[in-house]
Amino acid sequence: MMEMALSTQGVKDKVILQNLEISPPLALAPMVGLSHSAMRSLVQEQGCVGLLFTEMLAARSLPDENEKHSPLLMRTAGEKPLFYQLFLTDIEDIEPAVQRLHQFDAQGIDLNLGCPAPQLRRQGAGCYLVKDLVRLRSLLARLRMTTTLPLSVKIRLGDQLDQVALADLCRTLTGEGIDLLTVHGRLHGEKFCRKPHWEWIGKIKDMVKIPVLANGGIFSVNDARECLRISGADGLMLGRGAALRPWLFADIGREIYGCQPEQPRLSREQIYFRFIELLMERFSTERQLGRLKQFTHYYAGTYTFGHHLATAVQTSSSMEQAAERANDFFARCVC
Ligand SMILES: Cc1cc2nc3c(=O)[nH]c(=O)nc-3n(C[C@H](O)[C@H](O)[C@H](O)COP(=O)(O)O)c2cc1C
Repeated sequence: MMEMALSTQGVKDKVILQNLEISPPLALAPMVGLSHSAMRSLVQEQGCVGLLFTEMLAARSLPDENEKHSPLLMRTAGEKPLFYQLFLTDIEDIEPAVQRLHQFDAQGIDLNLGCPAPQLRRQGAGCYLVKDLVRLRSLLARLRMTTTLPLSVKIRLGDQLDQVALADLCRTLTGEGIDLLTVHGRLHGEKFCRKPHWEWIGKIKDMVKIPVLANGGIFSVNDARECLRISGADGLMLGRGAALRPWLFADIGREIYGCQPEQPRLSREQIYFRFIELLMERFSTERQLGRLKQFTHYYAGTYTFGHHLATAVQTSSSMEQAAERANDFFARCVC
């Protein structure tokens, strides 16, 4: 049973899936190389994140991954609620993968139906699964049979803006008992620089009775407000905005949902060094620098001369060098 409650501003301030309360209904998006343990903890520490996702994981290789060593599976006890995102190619992979997720104390399982990456095309996964609703239905039915955890799916809007095709897809998804739907408001072929079609998320919202999270292009409190207004969604999912401004959940939480972050706001420099600390705590040496570079690519975007920070870190050959160069940047920065 799902339930949604209204906050004083008329937006729903929580989503309830089975026994799980998502409050505020603000989620960190699954992002390869970004939505790992360090990033999840970083945004949680800033406050007001209601739901976390892992980056996408191949259902096929999950049973062979060692959770003690795999950077994809690294997780601390505080990272909750956490939905593990899977991409699926074969029905036979479902049961062993889901069994592992049960062992990992997953709070939910998400199926990636939106990713248009070429490597997924070859495997018929991600958004390519949506092109065959019969196959999709059988995969979802097996998933539903294999777990009682909340099941969510993340989709884009399709190959073109087509209400009939979307209605067919929604019927397939809800017919197989999914609990939550996230809609990235772009077509399969649209680049991230294109403005998302938030009004089309609204059309999907009208087609289903389950909660819908709106995703795409939310970089400020104002964007969050506009997206909620236009889409009528039950909550929001933030991707790049979370790497650019890890405090954005806290800002949206405070301004829209009346949520009070537990910790006082850190400076941008403190947040950056906290992230470095978390990377060093959570990952082996050879797994840290790549993740810092990827994060910095986005994080530097809030500084007028952020490209200096991005280049300095990008060309570093160790965490120590990157931290030193970042320190120099912050010392000289008039921000
Ligand atoms: C670096 C990067 C990696 C991503 N990896 C995934 C992924 O693993 N699974 C997924 O469903 N979407 C993935 N996405 C898409 C995001 O989840 C999100 O839908 C997209 O970035 C739009 O949201 P935004 O405008 O808030 O960034 C990725 C996006 C980025 C930028």
